[in-house]
Amino acid sequence: NLQSVLVIVISYLLGSISFSILIAKWVKGIDIRNHGSGNAGATNTLRVLGKGPAAAVFLLDVAKGIAAVWLGYWLSGGNGWIEAACGLAAITGHNWPVWFRFKGGKGIATTIGVMASLAFLPSLIAGIAAIAAIAVTRYVSLGSLIFAGLAPVMMLVFGVEASIFWTSVLLGVYAFIRHRSNIMKLVQGKENKLGAKKGVPH
Ligand code: G3P
Repeated sequence: NLQSVLVIVISYLLGSISFSILIAKWVKGIDIRNHGSGNAGATNTLRVLGKGPAAAVFLLDVAKGIAAVWLGYWLSGGNGWIEAACGLAAITGHNWPVWFRFKGGKGIATTIGVMASLAFLPSLIAGIAAIAAIAVTRYVSLGSLIFAGLAPVMMLVFGVEASIFWTSVLLGVYAFIRHRSNIMKLVQGKENKLGAKKGVPH
């Protein structure tokens, strides 16, 4: 119905608010997409601007994923598929933001917000595994891929509702598609490691 379409469109517009682009503009007057990996996300904000701005970007990009699912829950009266569609729409907005010429990020922070809202415990376990992988390898992208791949498995283990499981599968596939260039670099051993400063603007 019209209300469902509306709430999905609103979620897309919300997701399109790219906090890395906004914060980099405010803090340094730069377009984050011209620095570091060129990605509009928390990892690249860390690389280019440091910990404080990166933490703010991460939390705000997670929050918009949570907000989209809540909005879907609230306006649909708890319809799991509408909640999932709102989450997916927010991630789509983050990746292809209407406010920023459709050049956005890879959607992991927002995916974390969406998945944690849909099923907290399985997402937490996948998140812990991802953080451990990042701590050991220093590859954030590898951690993102582990989260995206492990979350659906954990959803299955915890026996979540079908709508939530299939959403996690879809979001996982989405994340892998957005990380194609990272996967190539990981395979070639050329991926950026955490802590290696690159593309810092003077
Ligand atoms: O979530 C994005 C992260 O996995 C990779 O970011 O900037 O290293 O491509 P980046």
